[in-house]
Amino acid sequence: MTSPIGKDLLALEPLTGDQIRLILDTAEPFKEISERAIKKVPTLRGKTIVNLFFESSTRTRISFEFAEKRLSADTVNVAASGSSVQKGETLVDTARNLEAMRIDMVVIRHGSSGAAKFLADRIESNVINAGDGTHEHPTQGLLDLLTLRDHLGDLAGRKVCICGDVLHSRVARSNLWGLKKLGVEVGVCGPRSLLPNAIESLGVTVFDHIEEAIEWADALNILRLQLERMHAGYIPSLREYNRIFGVTSARLEKAPRDLLILHPGPMNRGVEIDSDVADGPHSLILNQVTNGVAVRMAVLYLLAGGNAQLAEAAKGQGER
Ligand code: CP
Repeated sequence: MTSPIGKDLLALEPLTGDQIRLILDTAEPFKEISERAIKKVPTLRGKTIVNLFFESSTRTRISFEFAEKRLSADTVNVAASGSSVQKGETLVDTARNLEAMRIDMVVIRHGSSGAAKFLADRIESNVINAGDGTHEHPTQGLLDLLTLRDHLGDLAGRKVCICGDVLHSRVARSNLWGLKKLGVEVGVCGPRSLLPNAIESLGVTVFDHIEEAIEWADALNILRLQLERMHAGYIPSLREYNRIFGVTSARLEKAPRDLLILHPGPMNRGVEIDSDVADGPHSLILNQVTNGVAVRMAVLYLLAGGNAQLAEAAKGQGER
């Protein structure tokens, strides 16, 4: 059965605006399931899903696991440490062995850009990219869009600025494609050393000063400095970065409108974002985490062949 979003979810770049809206619309009825006393519907009963996490994760791994369990799928978690990957087994051999045990879907996080597509081209199971190197993190992009839509309504014509280490960020890439497909004006702000070359050619506005981004935007999506991916001196020091690009309450007070604050996590408090902003009244950071479960339920459900109308019906199932 072909799903309306294809066999796999590897990136937002190849999706149409309608496909992205379908995922967000499908997530809406799934939000309520997580608010029930008994957070479970039988929608994916009988499906087996493997979560292959070759890089560390808190939010994404646990969120996928909750999404799978709340849809009654059977799940298995595999990490690189403790698996035969440590003995030199290849990614494809690991996945093919899992398929020999009759699985239906693989959720993969991997340090190499393209790893999810590499796998999807070689196995029959549906593959969901949970973050591949510096390429994309599509479900993070989708949960960010859902959170923005909850607060701004139709996103067309709105202005969102992605701030910080865009160069190393898969979240930035998924946001950029997703936002543009929904008609959002996208800005980026950060030191030039942390912005990809020729990023203007993607149709984004570049801000060299965080104060200008704050004046322009309806929402800021603030990224952490990915120090683990930096192999050169991209910034003089963390203190200097905070002084020039840090989102602080003193800077936000000068915004001409109520600015929504997003951050994909994990946060480096006192570097890209100050604690009083992260925990302040305009912060949607925990709303993003809550929406992550609903978005991932929607993606799993659509890839398994469901549609938006049936999602509404699925909501009616289960005990309350
Ligand atoms: N946003 C995000 O991907 O967080 P984790 O690395 O904790 O999964």
